[in-house]
Amino acid sequence: MTFQQQIQQGIPTELPQPKPYETHINHAPKRKEILSDEEKKLALKNALRYFEPQFHAELLPEFREELEKYGRIYMYRFRPDYEMKARDIAEYPGKSEQAKAIMLMIQNNLDYAVAQHPHELITYGGNGAVFSNWAQYLLTMKYLSEMTDEQTLTMYSGHPMGLFPSHKDAPRVVVTNGMMIPNYSKPDDWEKFNALGVSQYGQMTAGSYMYIGPQGIVHGTTITVLNAFRKINKEPKGGLFVTSGLGGMSGAQPKAGNIAGCITVIAEVNPKITKIRHEQKWVNEIHENLDELVARVRKAQENQETVSLAYLGNIVDIWEKFDKENLKIDIGSDQTSLHNPWAGGYYPVGQTFEESNTMMAENPELFKEKVQETLRRHASAINKHTAKGTYFFDYGNAFLLEASRAGADVMSENTTIGREFKYPSYVQDIMGPMCFDYGFGPFRWVCTSGKPEDLQKTDDIACAVLEEMIKTSPEEIQQQMKDNITWIKGAQENNLVVGSQARILYADAEGRMKIAGAFNKAIANGEIGAVVLGRDHHDVSGTDSPYRETSNIYDGSRFTADMAIHNVIGDSFRGATWVSIHNGGGVGWGEVINGGFGMLLDGSDDADRRLKSMLFWDVNNGISRRSWARNEGAVFAIKRAMEAEPNLKVTLPNFVDEGLF
Ligand SMILES: NC(=O)c1ccc[n+]([C@@H]2O[C@H](COP(=O)([O-])OP(=O)(O)OC[C@H]3O[C@@H](n4cnc5c(N)ncnc54)[C@H](O)[C@@H]3O)[C@@H](O)[C@H]2O)c1
Repeated sequence: MTFQQQIQQGIPTELPQPKPYETHINHAPKRKEILSDEEKKLALKNALRYFEPQFHAELLPEFREELEKYGRIYMYRFRPDYEMKARDIAEYPGKSEQAKAIMLMIQNNLDYAVAQHPHELITYGGNGAVFSNWAQYLLTMKYLSEMTDEQTLTMYSGHPMGLFPSHKDAPRVVVTNGMMIPNYSKPDDWEKFNALGVSQYGQMTAGSYMYIGPQGIVHGTTITVLNAFRKINKEPKGGLFVTSGLGGMSGAQPKAGNIAGCITVIAEVNPKITKIRHEQKWVNEIHENLDELVARVRKAQENQETVSLAYLGNIVDIWEKFDKENLKIDIGSDQTSLHNPWAGGYYPVGQTFEESNTMMAENPELFKEKVQETLRRHASAINKHTAKGTYFFDYGNAFLLEASRAGADVMSENTTIGREFKYPSYVQDIMGPMCFDYGFGPFRWVCTSGKPEDLQKTDDIACAVLEEMIKTSPEEIQQQMKDNITWIKGAQENNLVVGSQARILYADAEGRMKIAGAFNKAIANGEIGAVVLGRDHHDVSGTDSPYRETSNIYDGSRFTADMAIHNVIGDSFRGATWVSIHNGGGVGWGEVINGGFGMLLDGSDDADRRLKSMLFWDVNNGISRRSWARNEGAVFAIKRAMEAEPNLKVTLPNFVDEGLF
C-alpha cells in the first residue's frame, strides 16, 4: 500500500503483525500501577472499542500485557510502517489543504528526530502526548484525509470524536486535552484517567501539533540568558551558567548559552539523551568526572571560551561540588521536568538512572521520598551559591513549587503577593516585563513544501519586515526588536532545524501581522509554498499559569484562567485553522490552562482577512489583561494598540496613590 492508501485506510481491516519492542528507541518510563482490577477491565474495554469484535480475543491478552508492563495501552502493533516525518504538503491525501497541513504537523510532532518517546506518542516533557494510543492516530489521520472545509474534527484528549458539519471559516480541528472537572485534577488523577484511556496530558505544543523541536525554545532561552546577564550587568563572555536537563526543551539551553556567548554547564542523568544532544551538536562536550569538569570550567573561564559542557549525572552533584571548589556561578537555573516529579521528571541523587526507573515503578512511595530529599539538598546547595552572588531564577519547571512542597528552604522571608519564593521565576524578572507585557511572544511558522529554500526566503521576508518596523518603533521596544533582528540574521547559520522547515522569533501583534501578511503575499505570488503559522502556548495571552506565564500579574488574578479560555474561543471564531486548550503543560496537571492555534496561509484573500483578525486578538487579549493588572508596559502597549485600531476599546486601570493607605 502507498503512504496515501495507508493514511486513508485508518485502522487496518486486517490485523497487522505484532511489533517487537525496539530497545534502541527512547521509551517512556513504566507508569505507576494505579488501576484496580475492575478499572483495568474498563481500560481494556475502552481500548478494544476501537476495533471490530472479531479481533478482540486476539488483542485482549496483548493489551493486557501492555497495561501490566508499561502502565498504559499504547497498541504498539498498530504503529504504521511508513517513516514518521513531515512530508511536502502535496504528498498528503485529502480534500482540504487545511486538513493536510494538520496531518503534516501531527507527523512532525511524532518524527523520531523530534519526539522524546515516539513509540508512546510522546513529543516532549516526559508525558506530553499527541495521542494516547496508535488507534487514535490512525483514525485521526483518516478523518483528516476525508474531511472537507465544511467540517470540523473534534479531538477529546487524543480521541477523535468525529467530523461535524461547520463552515469554511470555522477551525478544521478543535482540540481539548486533559480538561477535567477541577476537583479531579491532581497528579494521580492524570495517572488514573490516562491509564483508563479517557484523558491525556497534552503539554503545550505536543497535544496541539505545534512542536517544532528544540529550536522553538532555543530562541526564548537565548533571550532569557542574554537578559539574565544584562540583569547582573555582566557580559556573557567568560560568564558561567549552570543548569540541568538535555531533554525536549531543556536541551536547548547549551545551544542558547553558546549563542549568547557564555560557558554553560548542564547536568543530565539519561545517557541516551546526552548522547543524542551531543551528536546533534547541541552540546559541545560530555564529562562524567566531577574533578575533570571543574578543571575544564576553570580553563574555559580563564580563556573566556564560549562552550557548553554536559555532565552525565545528577545536577545536585554539580551545585555541591562547585560550592566545595568555590567555583563562581554567575547564573543558575534548573530545567528538570518537575511538573512531573513522581514519574520520571526528576531523578534522585545518589542512585543510578536505572535504579531510579525501577524504584519509580516498584516502590513509588520510596521514590517520592527520595525526590523530596534530593530537592531539599538541591535548594540548600543553590542557597550557598546565591549567598556568594549567583543570580538564580526558576525556569518555569515548577522547581520552586515542588521544592517548597518538599519542605526545602526556598520561601521568601518577606512574602508579598506573587513573591512567595526566595527567587523569581524567569517570567517575573525577564520574560513578563520585557516581552509579554509588550506583546512580544514566540511566533513561529512551518514551510509546508519542506524546502530549505522556502525557509530561507521566509527568514529574509521576516527580517526585512522587522528592519522596516524598527525605524519607527518606540524606545520601549527597541531592544526586543534588535534582539530579534540579530536572531533572524543568525538563524540559518545556527542550524536550528530539526524535523520540519520551521522558524521562530519573538514579535508583537503588529510584527506578527505584518510578517504573516508578507508571507501570504509571497505565497500568492508563487515565491514560496503555503505556510503554517502558530506559536508556543508559552505566550502573552494563551496561558494562565500562576507560577510561570502569568507570574508577573500581581492583582490577585493570576489564579484565574479566564484569559486562556477567552483566547481559544476568540481565536476559533476569528479564523484559526485549528485551536487547542489544555489542562497541564510545563508546570503540571492542574497547575495551568494553556491554549494555542495553527493557521494555514495559502496566499488567498481569505487567509489575509483571517490572519489580521485573529493575530490582532491573539496578542491583544493578553495585553489587555496584563494592562488591567496595572503592568505598566502593558498599559503602554494597549494604548498604542487602541491608537492603531479604532475598533479596540479596552478598560484601563486607574492607579491608586499608595500614600492613601
Ligand atoms: N526551555 C524553556 O524555555 C522552558 C520554559 C518553561 C518551562 N520549561 C520546563 O522545563 C522542564 C523541562 O522540559 P523538557 O521538555 O526538557 O523535559 P524533559 O523531560 O524532556 O527533560 C528534562 C530532563 O531532565 C533530566 N533530569 C531529571 N532529573 C535530573 C536530575 N536530578 N539531574 C540531572 N538531570 C535530570 C531528565 O533525564 C530529562 O532528560 C519542563 O518542566 C518544562 O515545562 C522549559
